[in-house]
Amino acid sequence: MTATAVAHPNIALVKYWGKADADLALPATGSVSMGLDVFPTTTSVTLTDRREARDTFTLNGRVVDDGPLVRVERFLDLVRGMAGSDARAAVVSENTVPTGAGLASSASGFAALAVAAAAAYGLDLSERDLSRLARRGSGSATRSIPGGVSVWHAGDDAGSFAETVPAPPMAMVVVTINDGPKEIGSREAMRRTIATSPFYPAWVSSTTETVGDMLAACAAGDFTRIGELTESNALRMHATIEGAFPPIRYLTSRSVAVFDAVVAMRADGIEAYATADAGPNVVVLCRPEDRARVAGALDGFGAVIESGTGPAARLLRSEDPGDHPR
Ligand code: DP6
Repeated sequence: MTATAVAHPNIALVKYWGKADADLALPATGSVSMGLDVFPTTTSVTLTDRREARDTFTLNGRVVDDGPLVRVERFLDLVRGMAGSDARAAVVSENTVPTGAGLASSASGFAALAVAAAAAYGLDLSERDLSRLARRGSGSATRSIPGGVSVWHAGDDAGSFAETVPAPPMAMVVVTINDGPKEIGSREAMRRTIATSPFYPAWVSSTTETVGDMLAACAAGDFTRIGELTESNALRMHATIEGAFPPIRYLTSRSVAVFDAVVAMRADGIEAYATADAGPNVVVLCRPEDRARVAGALDGFGAVIESGTGPAARLLRSEDPGDHPR
């Protein structure tokens, strides 16, 4: 059995930063994101002979045999548990995010893997259950299952899933900044933030409120309010992370220069708002009609990539090779 699925990255407008339960991958707060329509990850899962000792993982043509393979195997163990199967799998993934673009590939990666693995193991899951499953691979992958703008609910295992919400048309411009310091991964950084940042409790309470405000702004089609909340929430996340001990600082002086350029753009009448994830790259939210102008204005800060709002993750094909020779 082989199943192939495609999923796209997403960028949070209200960030997920911190888990309430690491085993179940339950977030401490809800979050809201916009899916991108660039850089899909396409993943095939082929069930192999059940006597094979391990799963295999090939990423962009290279066999992976370390940390990421272990993460894929743990994820497939969950799927095998749900399907009552002990068949091993060969996972082949093509990730089109250019190296160094700074867009997390774990979101599109685990979303595509969830859809392909569920189909290969014969599970017929709803969008909600696919999103719950993707959550177990990487938190942000939860939001790469539905299309458009989506909310990922905090809650228990059954209640923590993502779904599309009504929102006005929006675009994003990704500004790649290559001079960042060596990054500490988001998983470890989240743990350190929770354990040591005195700002963390305020992050949780304020973000919970911001999710409600953001959903109201999306429903009202209020782009200005969406943008203001997006930029504010990103800066609050970075302030909370910088409050950890030892401190973690993801934004470089060039990142801050892009935030400043976005403020200047607004003074010139272009509505744009900046956000940034666990790295130095900055993503700028704007109206679709302004994206080329925004991209042009930010060109000098790094490579720019424009994106519209993306589609849901989907199964491309699912086939049983039957008695074809293997
Ligand atoms: C800053 O989803 O990569 O991008 O759940 O540990 O795999 P794990 O973390 P991950 O964290 C993403 C954090 C973020 C904010 C966001 O996407 O909401």
